[in-house]
Amino acid sequence: MFPTAALTSFAFLAVAVRGQQVGTSTAENHPALSWQTCTTGGSCTTNSGSVVLDANWRWLHSVGGYTNCYTGNEWDTTLCPDAVTCAENCALDGADYSGTYGITASGDALTLQFVTGSNVGSRVYLLADSSTYEMFQVLNKEFTFDVDLSNLPCGLNGALYFSEMDADGGLAKYSGNKAGAAYGTGYCDSQCPRDLKFINGEGNVVNWTSTSANSGTGSYGSCCNEMDVWEANSISSAYTPHPCSVSGQTRCTGDQCGSPDRYAGICDPDGCDFNSYRMGDTTFYGPGKTVDTSSKFTVVTQFYTNDNTTTGTLSEIRRLYVQNGVVISNSKVNIPGMTAYDSITSDYCDAQKTIFGNTDSFDNQGGLTAMGEAFAQGVVLVMSVWDDYAAEMLWLDSDYPATADASTPGVARGTCATTSGVPSQVESQSPGSSVTFSNIKFGPIGSTYTGTSSSSGGGGSTTTTSTVKSSSSSSTPSSTATAPGATQTHYGQW
Ligand SMILES: *[C@@H]1O[C@H](CO)[C@@H](O)[C@H](O)[C@H]1NC(C)=O
Ligand SMILES: *[C@@H]1O[C@H](CO)[C@@H](O)[C@H](O)[C@H]1NC(C)=O
Repeated sequence: MFPTAALTSFAFLAVAVRGQQVGTSTAENHPALSWQTCTTGGSCTTNSGSVVLDANWRWLHSVGGYTNCYTGNEWDTTLCPDAVTCAENCALDGADYSGTYGITASGDALTLQFVTGSNVGSRVYLLADSSTYEMFQVLNKEFTFDVDLSNLPCGLNGALYFSEMDADGGLAKYSGNKAGAAYGTGYCDSQCPRDLKFINGEGNVVNWTSTSANSGTGSYGSCCNEMDVWEANSISSAYTPHPCSVSGQTRCTGDQCGSPDRYAGICDPDGCDFNSYRMGDTTFYGPGKTVDTSSKFTVVTQFYTNDNTTTGTLSEIRRLYVQNGVVISNSKVNIPGMTAYDSITSDYCDAQKTIFGNTDSFDNQGGLTAMGEAFAQGVVLVMSVWDDYAAEMLWLDSDYPATADASTPGVARGTCATTSGVPSQVESQSPGSSVTFSNIKFGPIGSTYTGTSSSSGGGGSTTTTSTVKSSSSSSTPSSTATAPGATQTHYGQW
């Protein structure tokens, strides 16, 4: 039996016979999330948006039945003998957002609780309508949101970022994908994640290899340009462009995916990050610091172009904060031998890579210019909460590499212990953690915030320079998928 379409927009599916299908065991009701578009002068209008859970977290079962297509770390070889048949036989079901995934929205606020157990974390996308992602063209624009991560400790990451996904989740491009953006398909990022169960409307079943009791990776990954506007917990934060040498969502295999050789791929896995603590100001961000993470604050990100038009070349990404009505300038770099930059520019990135001795995969994949080309195409807003099976989030909030001398510039990124962030411990100790994103505003530079001005926080101190191993970062949460009748299917990342 083919599932009856629960949503009118899927009525056409009643006649579909092939492809990554839609199940109807649970009705899919996208949580409503309002946000605002602003104009110069500061007047803003409200948009009625909603969010959708990524496909990978969903129960994947036989079309018309309740047999798991994927259990633990294995595909059902009867339902999924090959990539195409798998997409024909398997359906993505609706999500119980609050009950199963800890995702709640109210007005302009979205809370992602860090669920643990049969599901770990979550990842959602902003929708423009029930089957289309909102596409943001951010050049010469400003993107602003409030965040409360007072309840997000070491090892967790409450992320808000842009990925260059297709607006329909790949529905039109890939005949095997019958679910589309309405079911959160088409994810990609600069880590070229290979843990996705479906890519380009096909099951990622070839050479699927378990990476833990309930995770695995297939032969294919899904790459695209990614702008990490916000990767943070209450201890550390970073904003990081990650360009790719390809445009749009691109399936990779082998070396293209950047594994095992991290720098052989078609995207920049490291990015050019601005983490205030890592850049030498240890007093700027954290509980009781200049930006006080023990309460809510506003994060403003400005995407400048060389000619101050929406068609120019991306030249600078600026950051400022507003808290308790006071505008707080970004911290300034305080690293011996490095200019006191307070934003991301090509010069900043070059200097940072050189002084930290990091491989310059940012430049190698096209730098700010490539990032800006993705912004001109339009990018999808992603929000997630995750823990880190690959690097314990130490690249964000501790010393990384953990074995390096923490006094070497670039190594220390926050005050979390090098022993923190182990997923099993984070999951058992922090099940009540959460992040709330709210009051999203988008418009011309200067249109989305108000406040009285203030200076930036004080400088930190740093010591000697030397060459260290590269940083790493990722926006891919570890996820699981479960639903009535499903076995949880945890997966790692990278
Ligand atoms: C799967 O693994 C085999 C054996 O290692 C290899 O020859 C083949 O190319 C792999 N397939 C893909 C699609 O990567
Ligand atoms: C763009 O705007 C910035 C900030 O207002 C200004 O400093 C800069 O001179 C402008 N650049 C051009 C090319 O107009």
